[in-house]
Amino acid sequence: MYTVEDLQKRVEKELEKRSAELLDRMPVELYKPVTYSLGMGGKRLRPVLLLMAYNIFSEEIENVLPSALAIEVFHNFTLLHDDIMDKAEVRRNKPTVHIEFNENSAILSGDAMAFQSYKYLAECKSPRLLETIDLFTTTAIEVCEGQQYDMDFENRLDVRAKEYLEMIRLKTAVLIACALKGGALLADASTEVANEFYRFGENLGLAFQLQDDLLDTFGDQRTFGKKIGGDILANKKTYLLIKALENASEVKRKKLLKWIEKTDFIPEEKIEAVTTIFHETGAKKDAEQKADEYFNRAIAILDGLPFQNVVKQPLRNLTLKMLTREQ
Ligand code: IPE
Ligand code: IPE
Ligand code: MG
Ligand code: MG
Ligand code: MG
Repeated sequence: MYTVEDLQKRVEKELEKRSAELLDRMPVELYKPVTYSLGMGGKRLRPVLLLMAYNIFSEEIENVLPSALAIEVFHNFTLLHDDIMDKAEVRRNKPTVHIEFNENSAILSGDAMAFQSYKYLAECKSPRLLETIDLFTTTAIEVCEGQQYDMDFENRLDVRAKEYLEMIRLKTAVLIACALKGGALLADASTEVANEFYRFGENLGLAFQLQDDLLDTFGDQRTFGKKIGGDILANKKTYLLIKALENASEVKRKKLLKWIEKTDFIPEEKIEAVTTIFHETGAKKDAEQKADEYFNRAIAILDGLPFQNVVKQPLRNLTLKMLTREQ
């Protein structure tokens, strides 16, 4: 069995090797932002999850290393475009790609990464490769759907918690689910078991995005690596905002709505005022509870998977590590 740290190291090493190959290609203007993005760090959760799922069935992780790479490159591609859409200037404590280079570069290098991820995936040797590619493609389309809802919701005030949860399922949870199910499929697991890995990943992914939204407001910029308050400034309909609107007294609700509708404001003032309302209305507590609920569901699904505890332990460890993340 490989530990979380073993797999993280293996992924990092492979990323370095592949990045060096990409940097040899022309035109460098296309590949520089790619290697910048891949070399900026990141938790490497999705590739590690894929390898862990695979490792439950087989020790030959080298067989599927390209698919782990594929999912990390795909994830990073989504970040390039997401940061343009979210007007985010800092990620992993560094300037985002569209700031360091320019917007067109972030778009085009992002496109190249999306296609490159398919090339990596296709390198894998597995009797279930076609099925895995189909899962990956369905997932990619779903991520786009989720990102569209995310943007649409910025301009709405009547977003329900249920709609938010479906939006984050699409934009975030399905990719984590795809990593886990992908690892199982590539190992030729039964469809039933592979689907349980998917359900585990979906719940883990929902918890993960709820947490990301909490950290976006309440995290520490140095550890989180992203600017605090970005979601508040963009009027993102997070669980926090939805619950604050739901829980608030009439007076507080009006105050919150005024901040949302304001077009001329000092960013720090809006962030501070809205953060206070998230506290006062109990929205923070609600979001924390919801994240815990999904974490617990994920753990319960993992516990129910028909394997010895000892082989599931690395996955359990990573899940528990994610539960208390601040990065
Ligand atoms: C960021 O994902 C995007 C979300 C889905 C919240 P991660 O938090 O996994 O980002 P990195 O790769 O570790 O930077
Ligand atoms: C991430 O949502 C979803 C995707 C990148 C597909 P966020 O917009 O919350 O992610 P961060 O906070 O920028 O990493
Ligand atoms: Mg976004
Ligand atoms: Mg974003
Ligand atoms: Mg976020």
